[in-house]
Amino acid sequence: MEKFLNQIIHGDCLELMRQVPSDSVDVTFADPPFNLKKKYNTYEDHRDEAAYLDWCQEWLFEMVRITKPSGSIFVHNIPKWLTYYAGFLNEFATFRHWIAWDAPTAPMGKTLQPSHYGILFYVKDPKANKFYEIRYPHKRCRKCGYLLKDYGGKKKILHPFGPLVSDTWSDIHRIRHNKHRDAHPCQLPVHLLERLILMSTDDGDVILDPFMGTGTTAVAAARLGRSVIGIDVDSDYVDITRRKFAQEAPHPKIGDVWVSFYRGEIVTIADKDWELLKPYFVIPEDVKHIDFEKIRGGRAIATPKGQTSQLHLEIQEEYCECYEAT
Ligand SMILES: C[S@@+](CC[C@H](N)C(=O)[O-])C[C@H]1O[C@@H](n2cnc3c(N)ncnc32)[C@H](O)[C@@H]1O
Repeated sequence: MEKFLNQIIHGDCLELMRQVPSDSVDVTFADPPFNLKKKYNTYEDHRDEAAYLDWCQEWLFEMVRITKPSGSIFVHNIPKWLTYYAGFLNEFATFRHWIAWDAPTAPMGKTLQPSHYGILFYVKDPKANKFYEIRYPHKRCRKCGYLLKDYGGKKKILHPFGPLVSDTWSDIHRIRHNKHRDAHPCQLPVHLLERLILMSTDDGDVILDPFMGTGTTAVAAARLGRSVIGIDVDSDYVDITRRKFAQEAPHPKIGDVWVSFYRGEIVTIADKDWELLKPYFVIPEDVKHIDFEKIRGGRAIATPKGQTSQLHLEIQEEYCECYEAT
């Protein structure tokens, strides 16, 4: 097992996963080819449906086998294939969630507009499973600063940072600009993986990704102080990942806590860390004022090297009707 740790391996994921001992990694995450004729460098993304599903069943089985009893199994795909995956996985793992990642895709014609991908979340042993509730920042109107959601009479019990994350994720966008992409047709955003990692692992835990692409999972693991094993069949993608992984530094911690950032904004925190994080935020004295007053991170944060820097907290903002009307 040691020989695989923090390695980005060039090869076939089935062959390689078969060499990994059972019950040995904390999390397995797979973002396989979707059989949608995507233009990968080497992989041909159009198989006969039955052959595609047989192949998926083989690597899904390996993912569950190598995951520790305390571990989690995540699989990202379009809903059509996830319906089959769930059927396979129900045989040898326990269903936790179907996470709907709200990320509009191209119109397909004569269908409802596909507007989400799914992430299946299974666990190996529900009693032993490691799981941390997570929170995202309140969404606010960009103009008036008010919360977009009306909490009515529940304002007094609002969490100052933001709500618990549900099984619908609409606050993480796909990579929009080519300048932020590698030469890969379906690269995921790093903070999507960071959210899964904060939810299911501790410091130093190991995440294995059998379809690493250009290294999203490796980068997320490195930024959050976790270990990774990455596999891809394409040598160019492996080279890109190795280069990125070698250069990646951990995120600065806030106090002693890992959080997920995207362009200086906090995207996800683990709920269990809030008491440790709280002193680094300026919170309105009357929690009811969270309605119109942002909490701000303005105090010094400790980086891993013991230096300090300013925490820049910008909460995700959108326009509400007051803006649209003007
Ligand atoms: C959807 S992409 C993964 C993208 C990745 N999540 C990212 O963010 O960059 C699927 C990847 O699976 C790889 N692949 C296809 N067949 C494979 C196999 N048998 N073993 C390992 N990797 C494979 C492809 O080269 C492709 O990079």
